[in-house]
Amino acid sequence: MLPFPRLLKATLTVAQGAKGLSTSAKRNGKVAILGASGGIGQPMSLLMKQSPLVSELSLYDIVHTPGVAADLSHIDTPAKVKAYNGPDQLRDSLKGCQVILIPAGVPRKPGMTRDDLFNTNASIVRDLAQAAAEVAPKAFIAIISNPVNSTVPIASEVLKKAGVYDPKRVFGVTTLDIVRANAFIAEAKGLNPQDVSVPVIGGHSGVTIIPLISQAKPSVSFPEDKLKALTVRIQEAGTEVVKAKAGAGSATLSMAYAGARFGMSLLRGLKGEKVVECTFVQSSEVSGVSYFSTPVVLGKNGLEKNLGLGTLSPFEKQLLEQAIPELQKNIKKGEDFVNKK
Ligand SMILES: NC(=O)c1ccc[n+]([C@@H]2O[C@H](COP(=O)([O-])OP(=O)(O)OC[C@H]3O[C@@H](n4cnc5c(N)ncnc54)[C@H](O)[C@@H]3O)[C@@H](O)[C@H]2O)c1
Repeated sequence: MLPFPRLLKATLTVAQGAKGLSTSAKRNGKVAILGASGGIGQPMSLLMKQSPLVSELSLYDIVHTPGVAADLSHIDTPAKVKAYNGPDQLRDSLKGCQVILIPAGVPRKPGMTRDDLFNTNASIVRDLAQAAAEVAPKAFIAIISNPVNSTVPIASEVLKKAGVYDPKRVFGVTTLDIVRANAFIAEAKGLNPQDVSVPVIGGHSGVTIIPLISQAKPSVSFPEDKLKALTVRIQEAGTEVVKAKAGAGSATLSMAYAGARFGMSLLRGLKGEKVVECTFVQSSEVSGVSYFSTPVVLGKNGLEKNLGLGTLSPFEKQLLEQAIPELQKNIKKGEDFVNKK
């Protein structure tokens, strides 16, 4: 399997590239961030502004983007930054974009599940996907807004209705689960987290998050109780942050890191590199469920190859069985939301 990418590596290239590539054709991507003024949107915009892979950054939100864009535009990296504020400017923000990152919507508060966000975020993602379908039908769309297990089917149904759906171009961002798994396993084994790579498959909530610790690189092993505890910690890591923030939201900084890594991987793919990321995509062939996260190869046309589940341990097979009914329910809820009479 190709190695998973590392944002740090990308950022180092950025630092060199930012000074050395001022007019180089190598900077090629126009990226829109929808929800750019939020807890995730702002730091993710900052990270994308650092990337030499980005030629233009379109910042859209219903509030505050002029300030965020003015601030970022003073950074001495080549990406041009432009603000789009309010629904009247949404379509303009998407013109000519190759990658659309969507962190718009409300986050969890203590005691809430990701599904509790459905009522607010479903219509936000539907409307943003509708605009993308009209203005940038070929763009890669990466959805961060929760519940990802439902918002990806929502966006897909909207694109289908508009006649522009390409399942190779719509992604649910689950990268934070991988980043967390790498961090926690490295901590448990005393390894450098940058050297650890743990695939996490399934979906992006509770039991649907399936860390494949048996496939970790480097290979690691744990006694059964420790393995279970680590698995539950990875599944519940978002709630750990929600509790610690005590009403002030959910993961934003680690999510910005993960979202920027995924966005840069899409851009690297567009430039012809083969990049492996786990992501929640339409893929009934791997698990029988219509959307599922697995490692995939990203390239010029988006998803180039689904690398599937690999070999699961008996414990991971049990996790998969627990995940499937919940995932099916979440996916159906998203599809029904768009297709309701
Ligand atoms: N995929 C993941 O791993 C992951 C991790 C953490 C959070 N999230 C999700 O990301 C989303 C954003 O979280 P946050 O902490 O940044 O929230 P936030 O409230 O800080 O920011 C959300 C932003 O979205 C904007 N927004 C609201 N409606 C909009 C619309 N119609 N169009 C454009 N922008 C709109 C708000 O103005 C705000 O700036 C939440 O749904 C959260 O659950 C996902």
